[in-house]
Amino acid sequence: MTLVSYLRNEKTKNRIVALITECISYFRSISSREDLQYFSASVYNWFFRECMVKNQYVIFSENQYAEIKKLYEKLVFDLKKKADERAHIPVEKIVSLHRNSLIGILGHSGGSAAPSPAICSEYTLDLQEKILHLQISFLAEPILDIGCGEQALLTKELRKNNKTVIGIDQFFHSDAADYLLCKNWLEFEYQSCSWGSIVSHMAFSNHFIHHLSGQTGMAGKYEEVFFAILDSLKPGGTFYYAPAIPSIENKVDTEKYSIKRYETVYNAQVFSVTHIRKCI
Ligand SMILES: C[S@@+](CC[C@H](N)C(=O)[O-])C[C@H]1O[C@@H](n2cnc3c(N)ncnc32)[C@H](O)[C@@H]1O
Repeated sequence: MTLVSYLRNEKTKNRIVALITECISYFRSISSREDLQYFSASVYNWFFRECMVKNQYVIFSENQYAEIKKLYEKLVFDLKKKADERAHIPVEKIVSLHRNSLIGILGHSGGSAAPSPAICSEYTLDLQEKILHLQISFLAEPILDIGCGEQALLTKELRKNNKTVIGIDQFFHSDAADYLLCKNWLEFEYQSCSWGSIVSHMAFSNHFIHHLSGQTGMAGKYEEVFFAILDSLKPGGTFYYAPAIPSIENKVDTEKYSIKRYETVYNAQVFSVTHIRKCI
């Protein structure tokens, strides 16, 4: 089922309506603008988690992130009004209006992308460090973590180690941490010669491989961004990522960059990893 057909489906809608009706009193506890922001960010993230279970490779633009976020704020606001008995509109109507607006925003991204059986998950800090062959204390700064995840475990650990780091992801971090940004990696302004280290564990390159092998028409955009990421390294800076993308790495100018490949075995699974360093 695509996202749009999921949203149009009466059964899935009725399930949500029943769930909300059962816990409508919960919305009464929202008493400030901050509560509303926090609550709507949680439901926004829930929506993205649901999307990724259906198809982790679906692409939304940053405008869509913002519009979806607004829509969830409105939903939570309307349900709060309903819970306070200040609105007579039935929950079913609120949910239907919300779903229709969501379908309007999703446009083609939600409807056309083929569902994928591969489910997106987040990884422990230990696994990320071992697979990427990272030695946190030696990482050059500033550091960018592309697709850092909802929990941003690696980014947070780097912060704990007093590293200057930014994590980007389509998830929204409601604790408003200024170093965790809700950004699309295809639209992010990497800026030439800016980063001492860039890490991306099971994120950017994994999606790139998916678009290389499929008929999505996005491989060219991914390639353009891949080279923009390399260009954004400072001289001597390194891009650490997994999985490796040999067909693209073969196009990297070895006069300007040096490439090291590793195979890491973790829990009896083999992971391919690449480090690309910009020459000084
Ligand atoms: C498999 S998870 C890996 C997260 C983390 N790096 C880890 O290893 O635990 C991939 C992450 O990429 C993010 N992602 C997918 N497409 C994205 C995009 N276009 N822009 C930013 N983040 C994206 C997802 O939200 C997800 O958190």
